[in-house]
Amino acid sequence: MVFIEVCSRYEIDKDSSKFININNKELALFNIDNEFFAVDNTCPHQGGSLSEGEIHQEEVTCPLHCWMFNIKSGQCLNIPSIKVKTYKIKVENEKILVDL
Ligand code: FES
Repeated sequence: MVFIEVCSRYEIDKDSSKFININNKELALFNIDNEFFAVDNTCPHQGGSLSEGEIHQEEVTCPLHCWMFNIKSGQCLNIPSIKVKTYKIKVENEKILVDL
């Protein structure tokens, strides 16, 4: 595992998201109830930016055509055979690190 620091935990408010571009990867980072989660930012449908989606509890809705994804598992709620990749996170010294 290679955990890379992506930002401070204070850069993402509770129940919001942040776009991260690091090592040629585009991630959507979420703060859900002060727990942090990361998924690929690109919606597998037609490339919508999931970090710009609306968050409701553990779900994010793609801003383009409203496919919904569980933020913790990456599971698409509309089409069960589709998932977005999820990434392990750890928080150390107030910094968020993602396992790329
Ligand atoms: S691009 Fe995300 S639902 Fe279409």
